[in-house]
Amino acid sequence: MASTRQETVVVDGLALAQDIRQDLAKAVERHVSTGRRAPCLAVVLVGDDPASASYIKGKRRACARIGMDSIERKLPATATEREVLDVVEELNASEGVDGILVQLPLPDGVRPNTIAEAIGPDKDIDGLTPINAGRLLLGEPGHRACTPLGIMKILEHHEIPIEGAHAVVIGRSAIVGKPISLLLQQANATVTMCHSRTKQLAAVCRNADILVAAVGVPRLVQPDWVKPGAAVIDVGVSIIDGEWVGDVDTEGVRGIARIVTPHRRGVGPMTITMLLCNTLDAYEAHFGA
Ligand code: GUN
Repeated sequence: MASTRQETVVVDGLALAQDIRQDLAKAVERHVSTGRRAPCLAVVLVGDDPASASYIKGKRRACARIGMDSIERKLPATATEREVLDVVEELNASEGVDGILVQLPLPDGVRPNTIAEAIGPDKDIDGLTPINAGRLLLGEPGHRACTPLGIMKILEHHEIPIEGAHAVVIGRSAIVGKPISLLLQQANATVTMCHSRTKQLAAVCRNADILVAAVGVPRLVQPDWVKPGAAVIDVGVSIIDGEWVGDVDTEGVRGIARIVTPHRRGVGPMTITMLLCNTLDAYEAHFGA
């Protein structure tokens, strides 16, 4: 049988992120040149998880590169929920802070939903507060979670048709699975949400025109799960024997998918870029565009 090997584009999330960051840098410069202060992101790190510390460092570096300010509040792993709430309340009240990000995961005893509920919706650049999550559900304007926004930008950039497409999302987290399902549905995709109890997962995925894997199960998505010509978005990050591994067998789906995001330099740089966009939006909502 003649093979129908597909030319697969491996998404360069870093290049796309850099293009967008150039525009953000120009916007920040324009604001500062009028005598306004620069936009400012506040990050809160609780505990000493090395991965979280490294993500925070990357986010702060990205801010600095576009001329945005950032501040960091660090609490020990023994911090109580009350202590974290006090920091959030101080940042909510601060005139000099536009966006607040409390890095997840949080130590045991500090409930993420309780912390999210305390963040002022206007400064919730993660889109995780009940108000912004509700606005997304209702299709109203509000801050959207960064990874889902980044995925939508990648699909748009690669001209992946969404209207009428069958999108399959593996994972139902508040930070990726649920919001990306809603964004895709609002863009008129027919969305199937899958999770650990889904039956016939491979068969469901084989029907996907757009497949988003966000569960953190290394190489869950195998080549025979992918419909020829599908857009495959890998959000998962696991570390196996010191090596970073995504939810998708990226090499295996080459020649089958239309596009695939690599687990490094794929979705990650776009997530950070959307964080910068949301912080600038929060700033402009306050000071004017
Ligand atoms: N931990 C991993 N990704 C994220 C994110 O997008 N936001 C927050 N707050 N924590 C995270």
